[in-house]
Amino acid sequence: MVKTTIIAETDYEQGAALLKAGELVAFPTETVFGLGAIANNDAAVQAVYQVKGRPSDNPLIVHVSQPDDIFKYAQALTPEKKALIHQLTDAFWPGPLTLIVPVKPDIFGKTVTGGLVTVGIRMPDHEATLKMIAATGFPIVGPSANLSGKPSPTKVEHVYHDFNGKIAGILNSPPTKVGVESTVLDLSDDQGIFILRPGAITASMIEKAVPGIKVNQFISTSIASKEAPKAPGMKYRHYSPDVPVYAVSAEFFADVLRTLSTKKIGLVISESLAKSLDMAEMETYSLGDSSQSATSVLFDALRTLDEAPDLELIMVELLPETEANLAYRNRLLKASVKVYE
Ligand code: TXA
Ligand code: MG
Repeated sequence: MVKTTIIAETDYEQGAALLKAGELVAFPTETVFGLGAIANNDAAVQAVYQVKGRPSDNPLIVHVSQPDDIFKYAQALTPEKKALIHQLTDAFWPGPLTLIVPVKPDIFGKTVTGGLVTVGIRMPDHEATLKMIAATGFPIVGPSANLSGKPSPTKVEHVYHDFNGKIAGILNSPPTKVGVESTVLDLSDDQGIFILRPGAITASMIEKAVPGIKVNQFISTSIASKEAPKAPGMKYRHYSPDVPVYAVSAEFFADVLRTLSTKKIGLVISESLAKSLDMAEMETYSLGDSSQSATSVLFDALRTLDEAPDLELIMVELLPETEANLAYRNRLLKASVKVYE
């Protein structure tokens, strides 16, 4: 057991000192909290896998504090790729976009990259965290700060719940704004540019920011998908509370609820659906009434209802398949054991 200190945002230098000493420090970003270790300390990076229970073939992304830092770690970039990276970082960094690029050898240990010839890099949009990384003097790894398979953390309490006594510190912050992990964009594939994981930055937004670019989706929104995953992390079941989750579209919600009425069910639904349902005495968590609000609270909703006493089932509204709902649907479908749509 180590003592887990909650570090005030203004004390980011304390976080940096712990990281430099090889300790693990969780940190806030605009997406979800990450579990940080300095990326050139193999033992610390190994400890990240170990405390998360993360499979070792699932590489970590690294977080930098300045856009141009990506050029310190990426290699063999054509002038066109360099220009593209500049356009992307100008438009979206700091922000929820991870870029997969060919990595210079021997800068990050094998543990970081899982032995791949590429690395994922991003600059998170969070002032205290950027200052902490700058003070550390080297990028930090940052998988989401949850036990492997559990919903990602959007509040300091979530991180504390999963890692109290197992990590040295957590940099404090109000809840994260976006609520789901960054968009992962693969720039290392000769076949084209691929979104490997949907996030707040959509293909349309990227295509608008970089005229002439074509962005392909390489994501499985279906839990039944047999596609080979390009992002190693996407093959694992994810985001699941202990209580089973059903994803149900608004259209079928009332019917499914009726057929399951003998069970004690928690509901995660939009305001508009709530108005049309009879949910007397049911544990309910509101998604608000926009794609953004739903996405930002999804993980907190799953964690909150997982802790509610005696629930046998969590029914979550599956929002329609629009581009803005892609990240929400992707995470919810991965968390669900049944889908009604
Ligand atoms: O928003 C985020 O990205 C958060 C915050 C903390 O920054 N971090 C995060 O990290 O979500 P993680 O490790 O939970 O997810 C990174 C994803 C995984 O699906 C992983 O498989 C994929 O990126 N990935 C990492 N390196 C890769 C690589 N070289 N090639 C393809 N996919 C990669
Ligand atoms: Mg994760």
